[in-house]
Amino acid sequence: MKQGHLFLIGFMGSGKSTVACLVADRLGIPCIDLDAVVEQQQGMDVARIFETRGEDGFRELETKALLDLEQMPSAVVACGGGVVVRPQNRTALGRLGTVVYLRVSAAEALARVGDTSTRPLLSGAGGPIAATALLSARESLYASVSDLEVDTVGRTPDQVADLVLAAIEESR
Ligand code: S3P
Repeated sequence: MKQGHLFLIGFMGSGKSTVACLVADRLGIPCIDLDAVVEQQQGMDVARIFETRGEDGFRELETKALLDLEQMPSAVVACGGGVVVRPQNRTALGRLGTVVYLRVSAAEALARVGDTSTRPLLSGAGGPIAATALLSARESLYASVSDLEVDTVGRTPDQVADLVLAAIEESR
């Protein structure tokens, strides 16, 4: 494993935030949720940021929060599902640490997310179709930046955390 942070990437509903905290606890390092950092800095939730500043405005804030991690001690970082969309972010992820891709199917992602009103890119009539299209458009981006991959389908967050730790151990 490279020095630096341990980034969890993957689609909405892949379990990044929950698994990041489980892995961080076991490694004894902090757990950071990039969406939560942006929300705290802006004093509003992601859905509201999309409403007021648009997706581009949100992406600017997300990139800044990601780049700010360079100054911070090693942490397990749950990234937003769209962090891989910007080339600049993909470069930063590779530079700042080890990237683990949590795989999920569109159907399981939607089932886990449940209420999509907090996910602006899934809310609205297009829900299931939008999720399938977005996931397939992003799949190659997730795979291209990741050092390790873990399949989360049919697994609990604890099981996924075990697999993440095992994959890290194996890669050392
Ligand atoms: C997004 C995923 C969300 C959040 C925003 C955009 C995306 O994070 O950053 O709604 O583009 O996939 P989660 O993956 O934590 O839901």
